[in-house]
Amino acid sequence: MENFTFYSPTKFVFGKGTEKEAGKLIREFGGSKVLIHYGGGSVVRSGLLDRVKASLDEASLSYIELGGVKPNPRSGLVYEGIDLCRREGIDFILAVGGGSSIDSAKAIAAGTIYDGDFWDFYQGKPVTKALPVGTVLTISAAGSEGSGDSVITKEEGMYKRGASGEGIRPKFSILNPELTTTLPPYQTACGITDIMAHLYERYLTNSTDVEVTDRLIEALLLTMKKEGMRSIKEPLNYEARANVMWAGTMAHTNSCGVGRSQDWSSHCIEHELSALYDCAHGAGLAVTMPAVFKYVLKHNVMRFAQAAVRVWGCEMNFEDPEKTALEGIEAFRNFLTEIGMPKTISEFGGKEEDIPELVKNLCYGDGRDGTISGFVTLSEEDCANIYKMML
Ligand code: NZQ
Ligand code: ZN
Repeated sequence: MENFTFYSPTKFVFGKGTEKEAGKLIREFGGSKVLIHYGGGSVVRSGLLDRVKASLDEASLSYIELGGVKPNPRSGLVYEGIDLCRREGIDFILAVGGGSSIDSAKAIAAGTIYDGDFWDFYQGKPVTKALPVGTVLTISAAGSEGSGDSVITKEEGMYKRGASGEGIRPKFSILNPELTTTLPPYQTACGITDIMAHLYERYLTNSTDVEVTDRLIEALLLTMKKEGMRSIKEPLNYEARANVMWAGTMAHTNSCGVGRSQDWSSHCIEHELSALYDCAHGAGLAVTMPAVFKYVLKHNVMRFAQAAVRVWGCEMNFEDPEKTALEGIEAFRNFLTEIGMPKTISEFGGKEEDIPELVKNLCYGDGRDGTISGFVTLSEEDCANIYKMML
């Protein structure tokens, strides 16, 4: 196990009706003038926004609103939000929605108190300071409610890139599983896939003797297998939604990723798909992961075989562990198909002739140096081969 520091100070408030505590929590973390930031309208239609505003009124907080965050959030609205916060003297940002609203809120929070262009943070500058951010989560997926990360797409060039830093870790996150019962099944499935990807990206490690985190990841994957499927089959089942929601948060606070190297090549490869085709991040990952896993399999067959046995219930073939490893990848892929995820990029508009552009943006776009590093270092040619496997 490698040395690490784990500091994950988000206050999580979990359970039914907890959105009513938003005002009190903002006060607790020093907010007085709030920007409420949300997406394309689901929180308006469900009545959640009104309940959150009532909670802020009760705490005598003043607030303004900025809606309209798109899935795969864009830089244009971030610039608008930064101007608004500066003009209005905002001192707290409350994101109400999914990963996209939360990531956009984090970008605005970092950009408002920064002298330069907020995009600097998406080119590698760590975010040390930002306005405080709180969240009311409506979809179990990205894990942004507990992470110090934000992913934004820059409209010039359509580069989808991430920023990281303690400055943008949410001060609090309200997790009410009831709020996720209004999700369309496809969106629930995208969330399940993303959560499982966050687990696999940590599982694929080059560190040795990491039994505790291996076992934590396997436990969360097993939970997703059971409760993820249950939330698809019984969308109104509170307990299934609750288990998925906490697993989604646990998957990305990094509690199960400490002391080990991690992968993240599936995420990098996927981000070019959601940037170019505007597909849901989870749907892109469903196609990407099996291709990447098969491509890098030989780097450490036993790692994949271990997951196959412990998570997917495959029998270990000691004479041919590669066979077991492949069975595990196939079982994962079948699970994703069963919950309604695509198997090929053509299902969301991907075409073979786009591969050179995908590879160019992935390997050389916006400061990249020609390779993607993770579990295995992937060259331009490797990335092109992986995209071809997704056709
Ligand atoms: O925009 P609205 O109208 O709210 O609708 C959203 C959106 O269309 C809808 N939705 C959300 N909650 C709902 C609901 N519809 C009905 N009922 C509800 N309760 O679902 C759609 C997707 O929402 P979005 O916020 O985009 O989903 P998600 O949480 O999957 O976020 C995806 C974004 O997060 C990034 C992804 O790349 C993508 O841009 N990621 C962020 C990470 C992070 N910050 O740590 C890590 C992840 O790996 C990921 O890259
Ligand atoms: Zn993700």
